[in-house]
Parts: sequence; structure tokens; C-alpha cells
Amino acid sequence: MGKDVIIACDFDSAEKTFAFLDKFTGKKPFVKIGMELYYAEGPSIVREIKRRGHKIFLDLKLHDIPNTVKKAMAVLSRLDVDMCNLHAAGTTKMMTAAIEGLTREDGTRPLLIAVTQLTSTDEETMRTDLLIEKPIDEVVMHYAHNAKIAGLDGVVCSPLEAGKVHGVCGETFLTVTPGVRFADGDVGDQKRVTTPAKAREIGSDYIVVGRPITAAEDPVAAYERCVAEFVG
Ligand code: C5P
Repeated sequence: MGKDVIIACDFDSAEKTFAFLDKFTGKKPFVKIGMELYYAEGPSIVREIKRRGHKIFLDLKLHDIPNTVKKAMAVLSRLDVDMCNLHAAGTTKMMTAAIEGLTREDGTRPLLIAVTQLTSTDEETMRTDLLIEKPIDEVVMHYAHNAKIAGLDGVVCSPLEAGKVHGVCGETFLTVTPGVRFADGDVGDQKRVTTPAKAREIGSDYIVVGRPITAAEDPVAAYERCVAEFVG
């Protein structure tokens, strides 16, 4: 599995998204479509970005009863995305059902990645709000292990956790990591950040980069810098 940079296209309209993607003449970066853009534009945005030749990570973080997730995954699979995701908190049974729904008749399917604990949830919130008493690190690794048992391809995690996830789940289990910033860049609202070069060193398989590219004066140059640092 080759390492790659995924651009988080956190825009609220197709118009802004295409104005951004049009800057990449001749290049077709892997892009992430999140809830904001998908709920604004619907499946047509996925079809159009795919038609333009980009790989797509559809970041909708499904979490429901196994049967509902299975059926929803079958729909996403027909949309021909390359990667999609769900919450590991939905249980191993839900993740197994998701894989079934996602798998096409010919046996192929998009990559499926689990969110373990959101980075906006800390140990204190887990204990007081969710009544989860175990240390966050143990919960994250347990959820990652559940995802592996269910047959998923990897997890979304902090780049700082990528090495440990590989230690628990194996080198081929993918780590898709947001929270990436250039050494000389703005951190913004992200807390545990690292550089593309450091993410590569720790073992991330894909870095998800939003504002350092989308808000850059020259987004193409920022993307190329990310690729040079991360992929080499
Ligand atoms: O702009 P920035 O580089 O911070 O964007 C990171 C992207 O990754 C955003 O789309 C954000 O929603 C997503 N993400 C994250 N942390 C997670 C999961 C997803 O930052 N734990």
C-alpha cells in the first residue's frame, strides 16, 4: 500500500470545491469529502469528483444498527468511493455487517477505516460523559483491534498513535492520520499535531491535510510540499 496525502475538502459548496480542485492542473490528488460537503451537495459531488479522476475518501463516520449500516455501505460502494469509514464504537458486529454491505458482487470493495475515539474526546470526557473508565490509549487500541478482527483495513488516528496501532494490529493495518501541520505553519484548533515528515517516520500510511493546503496562498505548492515531505 503506497503512502499518500489526502486533501480534506472542507468546503460548503460544489462551486468552492471545484474552484479549489481546478488549481491542480494535470494532478489528481486523493480528496476527502466530509459531512459538510456531502450533506450540502449529495451524491452528485462524489460522482463529479470521481469523474474528474480523483480518488475519494468519503468521511461520513457511520454508526447505527448493523443492518442499517450494512445497507448504507452497499449504497456507498455503488458510488465507487475508494475509502469510507464508521465508528468502531458501533461494535464489532456492526463493523462486520459494514464489510458485508460494502463488498460488491465481484468481491471488490472500497477500503473501510474505523474511527476509534474522536480527537475531540479526551479521557476526562470519556469518564464523566460516557462512563468509560479505562485509559483512552487502551480504549483506542482495543477498538483498533476490534476493527481488525471485523476485517477492516485500518483506523483513523493521530499520527502520534500510528506506530502503536501498527504494533498492535500489524504493519499492513492502515493508519489514516489527520492533525498534520508544517513545522513553520499555523496549528489552528488542532492539538496533537505533527509534520508530514514526522508522520512518515512514525509510520502513517495516509495523512489527511486540510487547512495547511486549502487555506495556503499557493495550495498546489503546499500540496507538493506535503507530498515531498511525506511520500519522498
Ligand atoms: O484543516 P485540518 O488539516 O485540521 O483538517 C483535518 C481534517 O481531518 C478535517 O476534515 C477534520 O474534520 C478531520 N479529522 C480530524 N481529526 C479527527 C478526525 C477527522 O481533524 N480525529
